[in-house]
Amino acid sequence: MPLRPDIIDILRADAAAIVILTGAGISKESGLHTFRDPDGIWARYDISEVATPEAFINNPDLVHHFYNDRRAGLLDPAVQPNAAHLALARLEAEWPGDVLLVTQNIDDLHDRAGSKNLIHMHGELLKIRCNHCDLLTNWSKPLDLGIPCPSCAKPGGLRPHVVWFGEMPLEMERIYTALADCGLFISIGTSGNVYPAAGFVQMAGKESGAETVELNLEPSNGATLFEYSHYGAASEIVPSFVSSLIGC
Ligand code: APR
Repeated sequence: MPLRPDIIDILRADAAAIVILTGAGISKESGLHTFRDPDGIWARYDISEVATPEAFINNPDLVHHFYNDRRAGLLDPAVQPNAAHLALARLEAEWPGDVLLVTQNIDDLHDRAGSKNLIHMHGELLKIRCNHCDLLTNWSKPLDLGIPCPSCAKPGGLRPHVVWFGEMPLEMERIYTALADCGLFISIGTSGNVYPAAGFVQMAGKESGAETVELNLEPSNGATLFEYSHYGAASEIVPSFVSSLIGC
């Protein structure tokens, strides 16, 4: 069921805070793969071999290769923010209340689209950090074990600034506070398989009383937890949903 216009009017009049969660589906039409669709990344790679701390200990070359490929793919000039990313930046600029965008995506398409109040809860592909010192820096080249840290000069400690399975997602306190205070929670392009993100709808809805909306290609795993839903390609349904919120 779509979000009703009278509820939108109330949210706008109250300048209700909005929390948006995005997943890989929003970047699909920009040319990036999702994870769990039939052509997704986890159909070609084993999570335990490329996306866990143990994988990085056991086979760092394979882990670096996996992220080097994805970093090069993201830097392909053909990969650009699509209409859905741009619409969310517009929502942040034009909505009368606070808008916090929480993305599970490690791409930088929300940043490039102009979203400012943005949390990359699973990290960022175009950043690296050092296990030996507190270095956190932008990185666009291939990474390998032999490259010494530009700060402490020790070799072998550089890793992608991404959250692997078994690691704690970033900025959770800020996210939980925003979920407790929001009047509208919108989930876009995520299959609802990975926690803690998959639990945000219940925190915002049942526990905080927010309206909850799913915008996805198809009903996600958690579809029944949302009060409202719009199904279709993100580049179409997100701009039209944002227009309905802003009122033009
Ligand atoms: N528009 C909207 N939704 C889409 C589109 C599209 N064009 N294409 C696919 N989708 C939907 C799919 O139907 C699916 O529900 O996007 C969702 C993508 O789900 P996943 O591949 O599971 O991606 P995501 O939910 O972001 O994964 C969560 O899992 O492996 C980890 O760390 C990784 O952040 C990722 C997390």
